[in-house]
Amino acid sequence: MTTPEQYGEELYAEDEQLNIVKQSILDSGMRDVSIAPGYGRLLTLLAKSSGAKSVLEIGALGGYSGICLARGLAEGGRLLSLELKEENASLARSNMTEAGYGEIVDYRIGPALDSLIELDQQGERFDFFFIDADKENYPVYLEYAMKLALPGAIIAGDNTLLRGRTLNPEKNGPAVLAMRKFNEMIARDERLLSTFLPAYDGLALAMVK
Ligand SMILES: C[S@@+](CC[C@H](N)C(=O)[O-])C[C@H]1O[C@@H](n2cnc3c(N)ncnc32)[C@H](O)[C@@H]1O
Repeated sequence: MTTPEQYGEELYAEDEQLNIVKQSILDSGMRDVSIAPGYGRLLTLLAKSSGAKSVLEIGALGGYSGICLARGLAEGGRLLSLELKEENASLARSNMTEAGYGEIVDYRIGPALDSLIELDQQGERFDFFFIDADKENYPVYLEYAMKLALPGAIIAGDNTLLRGRTLNPEKNGPAVLAMRKFNEMIARDERLLSTFLPAYDGLALAMVK
């Protein structure tokens, strides 16, 4: 039986640029945990409709979500991506360049939390955040996103269902506990307008009031 996600994907033509990214991830021997195609399109749509000019991504991998975000950037907009591993940032940079976005992206290598502290000290502010790195740190990434946000900024967080583990009362590991906390923060923090999308592996979306 076709899933709703499969049905949705079949409506769209193959995306050659993004296929190249996925193939390059596999060729590098990495696990392809890029954002789902439907949510990639949603990132483009949200960035475009919100007029995003300064995007902060946490977790680059091979640049799949980076391309989706860059496609929606306003004229003169920039993407800063925080990535733990040099080899991932290097693959993402190469794929972004291949897609024509090499000039608008910068990478900061190392634990994202260190970079977030630095960005705050430097007074940097952003109008769009995409959180997609180590799950244990999602709550603290969300706190930083709210701290670094311009008014009206959009925050998106991927993998909020953790392939069902978030809903399973028997699963209580650190990533699961952190994700439950993140989802509750997104839903309840009075500084945010938000929603929770349960398709694919779950996406939380918010706007900073
Ligand atoms: C799910 S993948 C990102 C996928 C990417 N956003 C996309 O959709 O194309 C997670 C990435 O986060 C990176 N990562 C893991 N822990 C991190 C940390 N503490 N700081 C920064 N990046 C981290 C991993 O190396 C990996 O590249």
